[in-house]
Amino acid sequence: MSAFTAVDVIRAKRDGGVLGDAQIDWVVDAYTKGLVADEQMSALAMAILLRGMTAPEIARWTAAMIASGERLDLSAVDRPTVDKHSTGGVGDKITLPLTPLVAACGGAVPQLSGRGLGHTGGTLDKLESIPGWRATLTNDEFIRQLREVGAVICAAGEGLAPADRKLYALRDVTGTVEAIPLIASSIMSKKIAEGTGALVLDVKVGSGAFMKSIDDARELARTMVELGGAHGVRTVALLTDMSTPLGLAVGNAVEVTESVEVLAGGGPADVVELTLALAREMLDAAGLPDADPEAALRDGRAMDVWRAMIRAQGGDPDAPMPPAPEVEVVRADSDGFVASVDAYAIGVAAWRLGAGRARKEDAVSVPSGVLLRKRPGDSVRAGEPLYELRAEHAARIPAALAEAVRAVRISPTAPTPQPLVIERIG
Ligand code: URA
Repeated sequence: MSAFTAVDVIRAKRDGGVLGDAQIDWVVDAYTKGLVADEQMSALAMAILLRGMTAPEIARWTAAMIASGERLDLSAVDRPTVDKHSTGGVGDKITLPLTPLVAACGGAVPQLSGRGLGHTGGTLDKLESIPGWRATLTNDEFIRQLREVGAVICAAGEGLAPADRKLYALRDVTGTVEAIPLIASSIMSKKIAEGTGALVLDVKVGSGAFMKSIDDARELARTMVELGGAHGVRTVALLTDMSTPLGLAVGNAVEVTESVEVLAGGGPADVVELTLALAREMLDAAGLPDADPEAALRDGRAMDVWRAMIRAQGGDPDAPMPPAPEVEVVRADSDGFVASVDAYAIGVAAWRLGAGRARKEDAVSVPSGVLLRKRPGDSVRAGEPLYELRAEHAARIPAALAEAVRAVRISPTAPTPQPLVIERIG
């Protein structure tokens, strides 16, 4: 018989207490094994959201989630390993150009990615737009590709932090995603278990992000940087703006196309800026401060790694992206400047067009999404296109339009440009 009961642990946190190491180890392990029920863990997650956790509690919770599964050993990879994690945003396709770019500069990037839920897109959903590409690799295939290509983007295996897999799904349906201790331990348990030597976090702040305020984003970033350091993973974080979508494309196939433009030396300026800023941080953290990621984009080395990475997972890098049969162009109704493009509204519009899923088991639409024609600061004339809504079925357009119409604000004067990279923590 166990020394603990779930009800005692829930009550302790509900009443604002600090959970002991043994209580945390027990509850995480018992939940993973099915001995603590979903409704009990839901109550505990809500108590954590409302009461918070101390730094030692978060560290122990993270360690318990790591211990719930396997920890990958990447010592067979002869280059320094370094990964990036974004807390999620709208049009955030940065992993696609960044992973091959850092590999082209001498790092090995073991990028275990997720799928989109709600208004934020998922890297695996985007890459599955490429015919033949497969997200699931065995541990052996993962390590072989890391050794041979230097870049892997794939789904996390079942054995990695299984406690988080269960808990994340539960939080998603119980209104407990937004707890900083739970977000930090969820992200860091997976990244530490994946075995990376260094990690760069892109903590998003703004309407399209989980963290709407800079103070919350800072607290989340600090918590994760500390957790990484405590587990021997060199970790730094950039706080970056997510009040506006990244780039011009929001969806699946459209984001792959935009990423390939960046790898070909073009692409929207903000996507290039953030890709290079994160690449420099990753190369620094990996002990490769002299590498020149700008040159690797310019001279085609990053594109070569992208092609090899896609082929290694069965994808055809030359396959054309399918066009969307239904396109609605939305035009400006006055002259002026684009003052703002709201990331959340555009994210919800893309989701309603079919680019995202409402339930985990839903399929996403490959060609659906939003293509911006103007970004904040651009001048615009009445009648000029502001954005396009793309869908597989016309019936999807009205609900998306209802959300998108409030996204773009036009003003008579140009807005003051806002920095994309707001702060560095680490
Ligand atoms: N991403 C994760 O992996 N976990 C969270 O809790 C939030 C975002």
